[in-house]
Amino acid sequence: MPQNLQDTTTLHNGVKMPWFGLGVFKVQEGSEVVESVKAALRNGYKSIDTAAVYRNEEGVGQGIKEAGVPREKLFITTKVWNSDQGYESTLQAFETSMEKLGLEYLDLYLIHWPVAGKYKETWKALEKLYKDGKVRAIGVSNFHVHHLKDLMADAEIKPMVNQVEYHPHLAQTELLEFCKAEGIQMEAWSPLKQGELLSEPTIVEIAEKHKKSTAQVILRWDLQNEVITIPKSVKEHRIIENADIFDFELSADDMDRLNSLNKNERVGPDPDNFDF
Ligand SMILES: NC(=O)c1ccc[n+]([C@@H]2O[C@H](COP(=O)([O-])OP(=O)(O)OC[C@H]3O[C@@H](n4cnc5c(N)ncnc54)[C@H](OP(=O)(O)O)[C@@H]3O)[C@@H](O)[C@H]2O)c1
Repeated sequence: MPQNLQDTTTLHNGVKMPWFGLGVFKVQEGSEVVESVKAALRNGYKSIDTAAVYRNEEGVGQGIKEAGVPREKLFITTKVWNSDQGYESTLQAFETSMEKLGLEYLDLYLIHWPVAGKYKETWKALEKLYKDGKVRAIGVSNFHVHHLKDLMADAEIKPMVNQVEYHPHLAQTELLEFCKAEGIQMEAWSPLKQGELLSEPTIVEIAEKHKKSTAQVILRWDLQNEVITIPKSVKEHRIIENADIFDFELSADDMDRLNSLNKNERVGPDPDNFDF
């Protein structure tokens, strides 16, 4: 179990990735994203998750620069958007993201969604970027087991990470087991179900018992299930609260109760049925 906010998991290529990070989906370009990145880094976060489609990579880069944390201490993720998928277009999209971020190298580059007929070519571009030393790890997002199997059938390099929607209403047990067996690190997006899970009665009860918030219980559940988590907040007190989860432990009974909340319910689209 990670003991603090800086603790890392080792990806299958040996690169160390923090168990905990800040997400910046729907955080506005400009001062909002600059300030939330700075607040996170000021409070010990090392990992930031953005994407080309969030249109805030410049602000993420500015926040990193202004925070003054040495580059090698940070772990920065961005993602190639669906309309840029394909070999050459992905290489170009990567350069655009890097210019916006103002970084010399990236820590993790992800295929944002499994665009049918495109993701294998996109993966070849990620393999090239990895082999060229421009990115330290490569992975996918929103891939079901069948997408992963299909990708791996032709891939030279196995994805190191699969970032998917994951929270107590969407426990993804089959996918998690598959990823663990394959050495692919799972990472949770919308871990708080975008706030919808914060008043769930069972979680409230467990939180009261531990004198923690419901957000903290959910994020601790991620880590105890060996899933990286990247909650988003633009409020410094919540950025601090969300990361304050290393001083308590959910019991086996708490974990069973949280696991039993699963109802395969998503806040985002199903990767088998998206139209963007
Ligand atoms: N790969 C993908 O397709 C994909 C899709 C979606 C998201 N993501 C990534 O995953 C990250 C997290 O997911 P998300 O942003 O969708 O949702 P989330 O982290 O589940 O929830 C964020 C929401 O919860 C609120 N919140 C955060 N901490 C709280 C706390 N302690 N108490 C009460 N409310 C709290 C935030 O509001 P305030 O900001 O006002 O605090 C915001 O409205 C994203 O930012 C993004 O980096 C990836």
